[in-house]
Order: sequence, then structure tokens, then C-alpha cells
Amino acid sequence: MKHQDVIVIGAGAAGLMCALTAGYRGRDVLLIDNAKQLGRKILISGGGRCNFTNLGIEPSAYLCQNPHFCKSALARYTQWDFIAMVERHGIDYHEKTLGQLFCDDSAKKIVEMLRTECEWAGVTTQLRTDITSIQTTSSGYQLQTSQGEYTCESLVIATGGLSMPKLGATPFGYQVAEQFNVSVLSTSAALVPFTLQVADKTKFECLSGIALPVVARAECGKSFKEALLFTHRGLSGPSVLQISSYWKPGQAVSFNLLPEQDFMTWLSDIIKASPKLTLKNALCRIFPKRFVERLLELGELDGVGEKGGQAVSENDKGAIGTKSINQLSKAEQTFLYDYFTDWKVYPNGTEGYRTAEVTLGGIDTDALSSKTMEVKTQKGLYFIGEVVDVSGWLGGYNFQWAWSSGYATGQVC
Ligand code: FDA
Repeated sequence: MKHQDVIVIGAGAAGLMCALTAGYRGRDVLLIDNAKQLGRKILISGGGRCNFTNLGIEPSAYLCQNPHFCKSALARYTQWDFIAMVERHGIDYHEKTLGQLFCDDSAKKIVEMLRTECEWAGVTTQLRTDITSIQTTSSGYQLQTSQGEYTCESLVIATGGLSMPKLGATPFGYQVAEQFNVSVLSTSAALVPFTLQVADKTKFECLSGIALPVVARAECGKSFKEALLFTHRGLSGPSVLQISSYWKPGQAVSFNLLPEQDFMTWLSDIIKASPKLTLKNALCRIFPKRFVERLLELGELDGVGEKGGQAVSENDKGAIGTKSINQLSKAEQTFLYDYFTDWKVYPNGTEGYRTAEVTLGGIDTDALSSKTMEVKTQKGLYFIGEVVDVSGWLGGYNFQWAWSSGYATGQVC
């Protein structure tokens, strides 16, 4: 039986950071993973370029039952600390948008950097290893694995959440929590596309590929100004992924489809400039033509016709599109304003863990020290990274939580 000071289970972002930090403190660290490769999620993240952090990291960008929990770790290992490591390794990077930092070249550079740091810190890495049991001993923990038995003083669980099972996600961390009576909050897929109710899917699937700048708003009032993308299955794009973390089944999501300008001002300006323009041609100046044509074809813009709000007949559907804009009644103008600034969708659900970038919920932070991530009732047992009930916005926030929580534990385990 081999003895280690520290065993870290999960060689993803959080586990790698924790292992190298503990290794530099002179701890004898074994980093175990059941996968063939280190940091598989890092490799595919950010479209292969890894959005490794964000210039605007702040605790309010994280969802957690206790909104204060992430503050300490984020303050003690910041985005600037990670950027400094990236620069020390000569990795070129750029800001894409909204403070999001990506590698110029490839996410492989981030994995290579962390692997090299682990090597310098004397960490032993063991891949393709399954853990079959964990038991407590008088001085720590004893692990049975597919590669032999180990004992350790400190045991760190960094096995991530449930998102993307095809990348090796497992409920292992929650099972360990259960074994040690650590409370686990219910989990759900987040940063994930929406699926639509059958009727809406039929209406909008032909718009697949169209992207619009929008402000997406959840019923709780949270909103994000980013792109909306129509897909074959429903709605995606950064605004949808972001708002999915705040959406609850049965609720609506509202989209302002014209976030950059005031619809009424635009309409009155264009009526003055080109009064005879048809509504269809006017709308095609601010929206993709295919989108406008589909809305007219569906009769979506006929809500208030000349008959004062009565539904138009099948034959008249979209007739409003042929109207000159100077002929639009006040009621029609108001209807169009409401439609484009508060386009409501009731999602059928989400695409689930299969395509979700993160998992909401997980290890209850009430059970953990916010300074060290150690279980308050179980000396030497730590949970870090995505397995914990801390989920960030899209844009590098989740990796930063992995780096910061990994560092917090690496300093003490
Ligand atoms: P992570 O999931 O990375 O690592 C867990 C490790 O544990 C894995 O190596 C796994 O093999 C191992 N493991 C699991 N079960 C095990 C078991 N039973 N036994 C042994 N080992 C086990 N975030 C961001 O900030 N910027 C980005 O660009 C992206 N992009 C992105 C793209 C895609 C497609 C996804 C799915 C996710 C992202 N994310 C992201 C989110 C980010 O990848 C995620 O938050 C972190 O990887 C979480 O790091 P962890 O180390 O906690 O878990």
C-alpha cells in the first residue's frame, strides 16, 4: 500500500490547479483520473481555444445558494494570477468580447502549461484509474483503485459535475458526498440551449442559423445582452445559454429583439424619411429578411388589424407587411413595439447535460469552509471546482472558479 500526503481525484481544471499548488508546498501529491487524458474539457473548451478566464471576474457572476461563498477563493487567486501564469509560459492570448480571454492558438497550451507545472511541483499523475472504495483511517483515508491501494492524509474531490457525459462526467463527487453525509443540492443543466414546445418548434425551426443581437430576460429579472441563435431544436447562442442558468421549467423568457435602438423612434424616423415603404421592407432594414418573411407568413405581426384586434383570416395572414408604414394605426405601432421588445417564449425544456457547459447545484456550500473548501464535519476531505454548488456565467467564469477553488485547497491540503 502506497502512502501519499494528498490524493486529488479528477485531473480537470480544478484538480490540476490544486495538485500543482500543493506540490509546490512540498506535499507528496497523487493526481488520479479515470480518463485517458488530462483536462479533456479544457481541450474542447472555447471551441478549442479555451476561454480560460475573464477580465471582469466578480462574485455576482456566480450562482450559488450562498452568494458570498465564492468571494474568498476568487479574491485569493484572481484572474490576474492565472493570466500571469499564462504569460510566464509564453502563451499568446486575446480578449474576444466582454472581457473573455482565449488562447490565440490552442487550448492544448493551457493543458500543457498545467501538466508542466504539475511536473515541476513533483506531482505524480495516474490516468485510467477507477476508484472502487474510500474508507477513513485513523490519520486520513484509504482508497482502493483499479491500480492498487493508497492511503493519504488529505483527499480532494475534483471530479466535476454532470455536464457532457461523453467527456467523462460522472456523479462520483456526489456519491462521495453522500458517503460522508455531506448535503448535495439538486442539480440541473445550465449554460445550455432551450428546446421549444412542438408548436413553436414547427414555427421557428426553418429559421435555423439566423442570429440576432438581443437582450434575453428571465422571469427573475436577470438579463443578458448577447446573441440569440435559432437552431433546428430550438434556441441557442450566448444570450440563451446565459439565461438558461436563471430559467425554471414553466417560466417564460422574454427577448428584446431590438436592443440597440428604440423601436418607436426608429419607426417615426423611417416614416418621415420613406412614408410609402411597406412594413415588410422597413423591417428588412433592421432584421434578416428570412426572419421578417417568416413572421409575416405565420401572421405573428397581425395581432392588431384594422378590425381592432380580431384574428385575421388565413388568407389575410401577413397582409400587414404590404401596408405602407405611414398607414399603420397607433394600435398597430404599439403592437409591433410590444412584439419586438418583449418577444416571449415558453421553452419546453433544455437540451440537458448532453450539451450543457455546466451543472447548477451540487455540494452544498454550507457544508464547506469557504477559505479551504474542506468539509466542516470531515477533516481532510475537500470538494473543489464544478462539483460544488458554484456555477459561473458563460465567458471564462467557470474556469476561474476551478483555478481559484483549486488554489484555495492546494494551499492547505
Ligand atoms: P472537469 O469536469 O473539468 O474535470 C473533472 C475530472 O474528473 C475529469 O478529468 C474527469 O475525467 C474526472 N472524473 C470524473 N469522474 C471520475 C471518476 N469517477 N473517477 C476518476 N476521475 C473522474 N468554462 C470556461 O470558463 N470557459 C470555457 O471556454 C468553457 N468551455 C466549455 C465547453 C464545453 C463544451 C463544456 C462542457 C464546458 C465548458 N466550460 C468552460 C466549463 C468548464 O469546462 C468547467 O466548468 C470546468 O471544466 C470544471 O472543472 P472541474 O475541474 O471542476 O471539472
